[in-house]
Amino acid sequence: MKQITFAAIGALIIMTLAYCAQDAPQNVEETKATVSSAEMVKRGEYLITIGGCNDCHSPKISGEIPDPDRLLSGHPADEKLPAISDKKMIAPGQWALCSSGLTAWVGPWGTSFAANLTPDDTGIGNWTEAQFFKAIREGKLKGLDGTRPMLPPMPWFNFAKMSDEDLRAVFVYLKSLKPVKNAVPNPLPPTT
Ligand code: HEC
Repeated sequence: MKQITFAAIGALIIMTLAYCAQDAPQNVEETKATVSSAEMVKRGEYLITIGGCNDCHSPKISGEIPDPDRLLSGHPADEKLPAISDKKMIAPGQWALCSSGLTAWVGPWGTSFAANLTPDDTGIGNWTEAQFFKAIREGKLKGLDGTRPMLPPMPWFNFAKMSDEDLRAVFVYLKSLKPVKNAVPNPLPPTT
C-alpha cells in the first residue's frame, strides 16, 4: 500500500513538472506576441529617426538626405577625406570639424568614423541584443568587456536613458535593415 502511495505521489510530481516545463515557454511567447515584431520595427524606426542616428550614421545624397541604399551603414570606407589645411584650428579648445556627409569627425580626440549599424558582418550582423544594450548603456565599443570607450561625438549617454523596450525596438529595427558591406576605418589619433 505504502509503495503504491509513493508511486502515486511520484507520478503526480513528474506530471506537475512536465506541465510547468511545457507551460513556461508558452507564457513567454504570449507576452512577446503582445508587441508584434512589425510593431517593434516601426517603433524602432521612429526612435532612430527622432534620435538623429541617420545624421551621423548614414552617408548622404544631395546634401543632408540619408542615402536610402546605404542607410545607417556608417562612414563609407572608400570616402577620401580632404587634408586639414590649418591644424591649429583643431587644437584642443579650438574647432571640431566634420566631413560634409557628417560621418567623419575630427576633434581633440582624433578622427572618429560613425559605425556601420546594418546587419552585415562589418556592422552589427553578429551582435546579440545584450551587446547592443551594453554598447548604448555603457558606451563600450561592440558592447563587449575589455573594448575601448566610444569616442565623441557618439552621444551614447543620452540614448542610455531609453527604456529596455525602446532599446529592444531600436535593435530589432537595425536587424531588419538591408545589410550593407562597409568596413568603417578605425579611428585616428589626434594630429596636433
Ligand atoms: C553626432 C553623431 C552621432 C549620432 C547622432 C549617433 N551616433 Fe552612433 N556613433 C557615432 C560615431 C562617430 C561612432 C564611432 C565611435 C567610435 O569609433 O568610438 C558611433 C558609434 C556607435 C555605435 C558603436 C558601434 C560599434 O561598432 O561598437 C553604436 C551601436 C551606435 N553608434 C548607435 C547609434 C544609435 C542607435 C544612434 C541614434 C539613437 C546613434 N548612434 C547616433 C556618431 C553618432
